[in-house]
Order: sequence, then C-alpha cells, then structure tokens
Amino acid sequence: AGNPGGCPIDHAAPARAQGCPVSPQAAEFDPFGDGYQQDPPDYVRWAREREPVFYSPKLGYWVVTRYDDIKAVFRDNHTFSPSIALEKITPTGPEANAVLASYGYAMNRTLVNEDEPAHMPRRRALMDPFTPEALKHHEPMVRRLTRDYVDRFIDDGRADLVDQMLWEVPLTVALHFLGVPEEDMDRLRAYSIAHTVNTWGRPKPEEQVAVAHAVGNFWQLAGNILDKMRRNPDAPGWMQYGIRKQKEFPDVVTDSYLHSMMMAGIVAAHETTANASANAIKLLLQHPEAWRELCEDPGLLPNAVEECLRHNGSVAAWRRLATRDTEIAGVAIPAGARLLIVSSSANHDERHFADADFFDIRRENASDQLTFGYGAHQCMGKNLARMEMQIFLEELTRRLPHLRLAEQQFTYVPNTSFRGPEHLWVEWDPAGNPERRDP
Ligand code: HEM
Repeated sequence: AGNPGGCPIDHAAPARAQGCPVSPQAAEFDPFGDGYQQDPPDYVRWAREREPVFYSPKLGYWVVTRYDDIKAVFRDNHTFSPSIALEKITPTGPEANAVLASYGYAMNRTLVNEDEPAHMPRRRALMDPFTPEALKHHEPMVRRLTRDYVDRFIDDGRADLVDQMLWEVPLTVALHFLGVPEEDMDRLRAYSIAHTVNTWGRPKPEEQVAVAHAVGNFWQLAGNILDKMRRNPDAPGWMQYGIRKQKEFPDVVTDSYLHSMMMAGIVAAHETTANASANAIKLLLQHPEAWRELCEDPGLLPNAVEECLRHNGSVAAWRRLATRDTEIAGVAIPAGARLLIVSSSANHDERHFADADFFDIRRENASDQLTFGYGAHQCMGKNLARMEMQIFLEELTRRLPHLRLAEQQFTYVPNTSFRGPEHLWVEWDPAGNPERRDP
C-alpha cells in the first residue's frame, strides 16, 4: 500500500498505461462492449479471481469487483463520495454541451449524489412516503394495473413483455408515487433512455446531440411539472410531499433538489424496476424448474425476487469518488480517483455466495445482494420495487404458468449501470390458460 503514483500494486502485470502497471485484461476492459453488456459478472470474473481492484485506462476509472470491498466502499460515504453518481461517464463534445445549455439544463444534487452533511437530513425529511405502511396504499393499484395489462395479451399466445407490460406498469406506478399526472408515456420512456445513455453510456459524437435534445426536453418538462405541482401542493405524491417539506426546511429541500429529483426520480423509480422485472422473468423462464416451483408455491416468491436481484439485477455497477488517498484490498487509490463498483460482480462473489453462479430461489443469503446499494444511500424505493416485482410474478405464475421463453437474441442499451433486455418475447398456448379451463 501507499505507492506514490496511486498505481495498483501488481508487480507481475506486464503492460503499462498512464505510468501504472496495468494487466492486459485491465487494459482491454470495456464496459460498453458486448461482453459486459451480455453478462457483467462473467465479464469481470478474471478480476474477481485475480485482480479484484484494477485501473481501466479506457474508462479512466478504478474498477472494484469483490463483495467485501464493494460493501466497504458503500459503507464509507465520506472517503468514497457519491457525488459523481449521476455525472456523465463519457464527457460530451462542445456541440452537445451547447444543446444542453440551450435548455438551461442544470441537473444537480438529488439524494443519490449528495454528500454529508447535506444528505442525511434530506433523506430523513423525505422518508415517510417509503415506509411499509405508506407503500401498502399503492398495492391495489399495482395489482389492478398488472391485471389490466395481462388481460390485453392473455389470449394472444405471444407477447413482448417489455413493450406490452414491464415498461408501462412501473412507469405508471412511478408517476403515481411521485404525484405526476400521467404524461405521454412513450415520450417519457424515450427521455428516460436518453438520460441513461447520457449518464452511463458512450454515445458516439453524432448521437450525442440527439441525446442532448432529449435530455434537455426532459429537464424542461420536469420543471413544468414541478411548477404545476407547486400550485397544488396538497395533492398526493412524493414530490408534493417534498414541496410541503420545503416550507418547513428550505435549506434541506432546495429548489435545485426538487427540479433535479423531478427528472432523476422518474428514471430511478421506473427504469430500474422495469429492467429488474424483465431480468427476473427471463431468468426464471431460463430455469423452468424454478418457474414451476413458483407456480406451485407462491410462498417462495419473496426469496425468489431477492435471488433474481442478486443473480441478474438491473443495476450492474455504481460510482464513487475517492476524497482522499486511500486503499482498497491493498491497492493504493489516490484522492480524486473515480471508482466503478461492479455490484453485479459482488453478487457473484464466491467468497460471499456459495456456488455463486447457481440460481437458487431458496438461497438463504440472497437478500445480501448489493443491487440496491448499501449504507447511507441504500435505495429508498427498494420495497416499492420488490412489491411490483412480486405482484408481476404472482400474476404471471397464476395466470400463465405455461409461459415459455421464445427463441430470441437479447439486446441491451450499452451503458455501465442500468441493465435489462430491450425486449422479452414469451409464448404460451392460450387454450391451456387456467382461466379458460376453470373460468
Ligand atoms: C438509490 C437501485 C428502484 C428511489 C438507489 C441506488 C441504487 C438503486 C443502486 C444507490 C444506492 C447507493 O448509493 O448505495 C435501484 C434498483 C431498483 C430501484 C435496482 C429497482 C429494482 C427504486 C424506486 C424508487 C427508487 C422504485 C422510488 C420510488 C431511489 C432513491 C435513491 C435510490 C430516492 C437515493 C437514496 C439516497 O441516496 O439516500 N437505487 N432502485 N429506487 N433509489 Fe433506487
């Protein structure tokens, strides 16, 4: 530890980049390529086994891959600041920057990227709508929406669950939770994907301008929605709750917070959950035995949801900034270093999860998964997300137990963090629908 250049201590590594010894695999690491997109924990298996913390010259980040190290980074949010969580991972060129500026784009601190001491008082002030009692009020709406969407395709024998259910239901739930009137869903979906690409992707220079327009429009829409809410702050919704709290604690719940959260919240609350649900259903249908067991015993569902989030969660990696010279697993990390903490790799670490690649809906420590992060910033919406995933699975296993995966190639929006298949084609024989046999 303590080597002056902040280089990884790996004397055996032959290649050198930026004056640091970088092993060939570290030099090649590219989270925007197909390997990482298809299976992030498998792509960094070599690192988990041999070089758990490495510097990636292509990304300009230090990459952390083991469970204990990642948990320790999450736990210490003073040394490892979350301030870069929503920073563009790929700096954009002057043209895209000018487009963003023309919309007055000023995304700033929300909760997820706020440092202490500002973060905790804000998190506490805004926590009540996430308590289990508060969330119970949303359950009937989630169930009704899920049933309505399944009704629309149950007789078809074939569906793309992403396009026909898993985007719109979590988006509708997210808008209800936030208190946003149901806006044009297709537009919000396109804006959310642009936000993901803008924050965690590597758009080519020619794509950057289109992404910047979408993100700029999203920012302005968020501002307009907020203005409308301010005129009716007693309406239900987490954002209105924030507006009311601002009157009590103006320094804690700031204008900049509200505008930034209005936009980031729509993405945080829906895209993560849509992707997690698609990943879960795909994984279960790839393990027909597990699917059959869930159909027969819905009591297994809560743990199955945890195991899906562990094995194939919707957030593959998160980010932190080192605020001082420090060390992770014996590797010196200099102040100012940017870290990509690959939580999906932590979730496949044999040191914490026995037979980690094995998908086991009865796994006892499945809920130790780090897909929701850990510590002071751990996802506030985790129980809403769990509730949605559980209801989707309850409804599908009950109404379509004979569901199977159709032949297809899965594609992903290339980025480091938000991960789920763009389409999920499933098939079944409508004549075998239980409600036809036993209406
Ligand atoms: C924070 C993942 C759903 C609201 C986070 C973080 C992650 C995450 C990785 C950062 C944790 C950290 O830094 O330690 C997910 C996943 C979801 C999901 C995988 C779905 C499966 C939701 C939903 C909501 C939500 C539905 C809101 C309704 C938030 C908020 C934070 C957060 C407000 C910031 C908490 C803080 O910094 O104090 N989430 N999330 N999330 N999430 Fe989620």
